[in-house]
Amino acid sequence: MGRSAEKPHEGEAPRDFSELDIRFRKMESSDLDEVLSIERASFSHPWSARFFLEELRVPCARSLLAIAGDKIVGYIIYWLLSDSLDVHNLAVHPECRRRGIGRSLLMAVIEDAKCGALKRITLEVRKSNEAAQKLYRSLGFATRGVRRGYYSDNGEDALIMVLDVEPS
Ligand SMILES: CC(C)(COP(=O)(O)OP(=O)(O)OC[C@H]1O[C@@H](n2cnc3c(N)ncnc32)[C@H](O)[C@@H]1OP(=O)(O)O)[C@@H](O)C(=O)NCCC(=O)NCCS
Repeated sequence: MGRSAEKPHEGEAPRDFSELDIRFRKMESSDLDEVLSIERASFSHPWSARFFLEELRVPCARSLLAIAGDKIVGYIIYWLLSDSLDVHNLAVHPECRRRGIGRSLLMAVIEDAKCGALKRITLEVRKSNEAAQKLYRSLGFATRGVRRGYYSDNGEDALIMVLDVEPS
């Protein structure tokens, strides 16, 4: 995920994930306004509408939305490559964080990687984004490298995190 750090958010969200009754489905272009509002609340350098549309047109790109009631509360975008899966974007609505939504999106992606017999899942994360790193580590991702000065806005390093996928 090539561009930004988590913005701080106010307030304490309830932690009971089950009460949210989350559903998952693929992202459509009509979802873009809602997705963009989460994107802009989540990143200092958010993707534009055009960037989302271009990304979703890539043949190997996949998306998953988390939906509570009729509201989009999170999303993940990734590429299915020949033997690996690359996560390109992940965000959860600031008011819905710490309820397991980010973890559930990643777990769905891990299942997708297993179904496709892929060997690993890779992603990049800002060195300063400790919340995301903690989430990734809790699912078994490990830091395998550093891209020095990867983020053009402030020259911050990216950590390359990798999960070796065990066949199910
Ligand atoms: C990172 C992000 C997707 C996590 O989503 P989330 O739904 O809040 O995460 P979860 O509730 O599934 O958290 C799972 C675990 O991750 C860790 N974690 C998540 N957010 C954390 C935080 N702010 N501080 C510390 N640990 C955190 C915890 O271990 C947590 O488990 P716990 O709540 O039982 O302690 C969300 O904070 C976000 O959208 N951030 C802004 C965008 C971003 O940084 N995306 C990733 C770019 S690489």
